[in-house]
Amino acid sequence: MVAPGLETALTDELSALGARPRAQTGGAVFEADTDLLYRIHLHSRIAARVRVRVGEFAATTLEALGAAVRRLPWDRFVHPRQPVKVEVASHRSRLRHREAVARKAEHAIRDAARVPRRTDAGRPPTDAVGVLIRIEDDRAEVSVDASGDLLHRRGWRREHVGAPLRENLAAACLWLAEWSPGEALLDPVCGSGTFAIEAATIALARPPGAGRTFAFHGWPSFDADAWTRVLAEPPEEAVTPRLFASDRDPKAITVARANARRAGVEQAVRFEVRDLAAAVAPAPTGLVIANPPWGGRIKGELEAMELLSRALRGPLAGWRWALLAPRHIVPHRLGLTCEPIARFNDGGVDVVLHGGGPSGATPP
Ligand SMILES: C[S@@+](CC[C@H](N)C(=O)[O-])C[C@H]1O[C@@H](n2cnc3c(N)ncnc32)[C@H](O)[C@@H]1O
Repeated sequence: MVAPGLETALTDELSALGARPRAQTGGAVFEADTDLLYRIHLHSRIAARVRVRVGEFAATTLEALGAAVRRLPWDRFVHPRQPVKVEVASHRSRLRHREAVARKAEHAIRDAARVPRRTDAGRPPTDAVGVLIRIEDDRAEVSVDASGDLLHRRGWRREHVGAPLRENLAAACLWLAEWSPGEALLDPVCGSGTFAIEAATIALARPPGAGRTFAFHGWPSFDADAWTRVLAEPPEEAVTPRLFASDRDPKAITVARANARRAGVEQAVRFEVRDLAAAVAPAPTGLVIANPPWGGRIKGELEAMELLSRALRGPLAGWRWALLAPRHIVPHRLGLTCEPIARFNDGGVDVVLHGGGPSGATPP
């Protein structure tokens, strides 16, 4: 699962992790063995959630749906007496009453997973297993949430200022901007530091899922040996990064530093309180990546965009850049020559990632 518009970034990343994905609106479909499922949780920076498809069948009545759900191998995913939460989406189908479908399926799953196994001891887990049933043209597709908490919650951003960008969206922007750890990177409106911290963890080869517990860890079929094996796979080579992040708000810099410390990358980023009006180039070339404040959430949207565009034509003229802005803000009007790299939805706002070359030149 990913924000619609970022499917290509997701499929590229999944391919690099060894999957053979097919893009679908808001996500990608692929076959995975246990190691690949675990590897994607450990390493994917762009995915928001992974679901495992448990079954697919035709269903036009509640009874038929209940019976088909009951036949699926729930003992792999659900402990006896463990709560189950079923979400339902239905399009062009006779089974339209989502509440009734959810109740029927929950009942069927509890029934199927009722028999305790010899290895089950003590109380059942209290976390509900998330199940999604999508019904389209009278065909139901049943899947189980393998992730639990959304994957962008890496664990280090416990504090934030203003309107922070989700970590997986920041990672998608870095991917789409084709940033590689050898290139200097500057976020001159860094807020909570998401771009720079995400970049630092990439450069230092720190997997985003290390130290996390995912929903699949609680499944009866969890394979501890496979998880250990995936954790032991050799990491990418670490690169000494050149990362710079600044903001005019001293509180933002304090928060960004604290987030970087929690991510274990504080030494890898040079944080600084600095207004865009006084921007300086910390290296001759590199990538400026930023989501300047926009209307509705933080005041002064054009002021920051204007200052940024001046900096990109002035002290940062040797740098290429990628700017995330809502659709109604057009960098061309600010004197920047650029091309749209991607369009997606960020928390209900349609945004465009624009890219430009040094001195405002259009990228090749
Ligand atoms: C949308 S937030 C950036 C969010 C950030 N990408 C994150 O994930 O936390 C915009 C930031 O721009 C900063 N800002 C606004 N005007 C600025 C200026 N003139 N110079 C430097 N920073 C500025 C604000 O203080 C705010 O922290």
